Amino acid sequence: MLTQLRYLQMNGLEHIWSSSEGTSTEFFLAGAVLGSQVIRVRLLGGAEAVQVQEHLESSQPLTRYQLADGNPGTLPYHSWIVAKGDEQWPSRVNATDAQAILKPYLHEFAFSETALRLTHPLTEDERIFGLGERTADLNKRGHAFPIWNIDPHKGHNPQTETMYMSVPFYLGLSPISGRAYGILIDHTGRVEADMGKTNPAEASLTVQGDSLIAYFFTGPTQAAVMRQYTELTGRMSLPPRWTLGHHQCRWGYMSAQEVRQIAHTFRERNHPCDAIWLDIDYMNGYRNFTWNHDAFPNPKQLTDDLHAQGMHLVTIIDPGTKIDADYSVYQQGMEQNYFCRYQNGEIFIGVVWPGPCVFPDFSRNEVRTWWGNLYKEMLDQGVDAIWNDMDEPALTSILIPDEPEITTVKSNTMPDDVLHQAGGDQPTSPDGPPTLHKYYHNAYGMEMARATFEGLLRLRPNSRPFVLTRSGTAGMQRYAALWTGDNWSRFADILMGITMCINIGISGVPMVGVDIGGFWEDSNGELLVRFAQLAALLPFCRNHSAKDTLAQEPWAFGEPFESAYRTAIETRYRLLPYLYTLFHEAATTGTPIIRPLYYHYPQEQQACDVQDAFLVGDSLLTAPICEEGATNRSVYLPEGIWFDYWTGNTYPGAGWSTLEAPLERWPLLVRNNSILPTGPVMQYVDQRPTDPLTFTCYMVTDGLASYTHYEDDGSTLAYQNGAFASISVSCRVQDDFVTVAIEEQFDGYRPQREEYEVVIYVGGRMLQQRVKAGQGKMVVRL
Ligand code: GLC
Repeated sequence: MLTQLRYLQMNGLEHIWSSSEGTSTEFFLAGAVLGSQVIRVRLLGGAEAVQVQEHLESSQPLTRYQLADGNPGTLPYHSWIVAKGDEQWPSRVNATDAQAILKPYLHEFAFSETALRLTHPLTEDERIFGLGERTADLNKRGHAFPIWNIDPHKGHNPQTETMYMSVPFYLGLSPISGRAYGILIDHTGRVEADMGKTNPAEASLTVQGDSLIAYFFTGPTQAAVMRQYTELTGRMSLPPRWTLGHHQCRWGYMSAQEVRQIAHTFRERNHPCDAIWLDIDYMNGYRNFTWNHDAFPNPKQLTDDLHAQGMHLVTIIDPGTKIDADYSVYQQGMEQNYFCRYQNGEIFIGVVWPGPCVFPDFSRNEVRTWWGNLYKEMLDQGVDAIWNDMDEPALTSILIPDEPEITTVKSNTMPDDVLHQAGGDQPTSPDGPPTLHKYYHNAYGMEMARATFEGLLRLRPNSRPFVLTRSGTAGMQRYAALWTGDNWSRFADILMGITMCINIGISGVPMVGVDIGGFWEDSNGELLVRFAQLAALLPFCRNHSAKDTLAQEPWAFGEPFESAYRTAIETRYRLLPYLYTLFHEAATTGTPIIRPLYYHYPQEQQACDVQDAFLVGDSLLTAPICEEGATNRSVYLPEGIWFDYWTGNTYPGAGWSTLEAPLERWPLLVRNNSILPTGPVMQYVDQRPTDPLTFTCYMVTDGLASYTHYEDDGSTLAYQNGAFASISVSCRVQDDFVTVAIEEQFDGYRPQREEYEVVIYVGGRMLQQRVKAGQGKMVVRL
């Protein structure tokens, strides 16, 4: 712990202290209060300390680098995670107050010759959430693990330490006080997280290198922490609305003919679907940006035919670029020196699907631009969105340079001594200094997603890009959605899917989903249906499986499974107006779309421990079936009264209820005093205007409910300039009178709609009425 600190001076927003206790070398602490609720403290040693020293002596400004978003900023170091520079924060405190605010944080830092550490005290009741994609319990208190992205061994389970995507950010919550705070370590190398395992009274985060940069988000509510965290690391922009639909994927769709057949069967059997996804088999010998023209002779014709049925096409791209002198992507990248090299200048070669591959250095602007532009042909061919995979990066082995024979050694990722060039050779370059893979690793997938996202945006400037990625780190929500990788066709993976997805939401990444049906091994009818019921309310909803497993399209196992699958997905399509409004909330405030129960009920101890159910927004609670053969399950309902979505029956909150779950249903509940918007079932998201738009008001007795609905064109960026509609609805029940008021604001966008339908559950009755849309302000009395 640092105790003997000497205040030196102010530099920009930072206040600098020095410490040399116990060592011959000097360390510095630089703290800044950003806005009024975000605090940053940097512990600087080694080369970083030398820079500070030089700055103090010469009074020259500290090196200024570029921010992750590409804009010049005055962040005093290089970061891929942070999207907002110091000058972009409003200054809300004066220098004296800032020093007083910073002081208590300074004592949480410690250093040794090899590592830097932040140690944060934990109260007895405190719980820890977030930290990215993690398989174990929702609450990470008592666990220790590295923050380091890998493609885990086949068959990950709750003991698996680290997965494809991790985030060095956690949210601490004390149920007794109801207070929440957040901590982010701005580091893309390995971080050792110990969440009270070694010492139950403290959490610690340890990094190697010359600096440890910590951000503290003061909350005090979970929603405030998420707002503060995403203000710093950025938010998801709205994806095209069709991506909220159901998607069909499979490793093993081998030809255009097969894809057409699948699409046709979806329409013929009335299973809603918005996209078919192509895995690596569409490529020519696994070469990125190519097609196997025997199996896919005319990609443009294929996308035209799919589009005519309201289907989209998404293609996979991996970073591994096949070494093949006749392959143009390889040629271009070699000529321009765009691929990763070791520190000694040797090219790095790793083995993936195509055999020996080279890997783009996504830390460099020009490489990202080149890679992004490679999508041009695909987009011209009508491909709608891109799926990034193996971007940890994942490998099976590496080729050892300079050996007379081809020698490979097993390795699951790039070696530490690959050097990412970032802005160039100059340490003072505006785009940041070269960085060893050891310190860059977790950013690789995010920067590949960034190259893709920015490329798509350049190529189609007024269309919303959509990228799905397997890997990423803090801030990745700016560029991509995430799926949880290769799960198994097991009931245990439904449960694991719930905890992983809600924790990923709390890690700032709102759009997330699992492979419906399970990826590895054969699925079966019951399992597939239960997976679909989970995914029906996840932000991203895609069926996917491995090669050589049994087919698992919605109809694959016949009845009664086919109908039950259809019901689950139709329920999603009915709820799309609600989901889309939640996407908008996530994009503007950083609030997760799906939320753990503690998010809205932090002071209910039991709600804080629920990890087999989740909230969708603040009105819906879904409790998927995680056990084979189950036809009911018990569900913890937070305080208040809850309506059964299927029957309208009510259940008391603040306790457990056993709810029926025949194959075609699962416990889905709506909070009392809430208004849920729904639309008609469609076969694809934009099949018809959402007409009527139904507002169902759930009211037990006298009370007030209100809701603000969001709509826009669903595909362009016009919403960013105000082209959206917002509809405020309120429902008041008083002395047996019900008043529903609807107020439309159609300034920049007018939805096509004839009618609203108003449904009210009140006092055991259901009332219903239709009203003409487009009148501005409407009042319905019942
Ligand atoms: C990886 C992906 C999986 C994909 C497979 C083949 O295992 O996680 O989704 O199907 O590679 O590309």
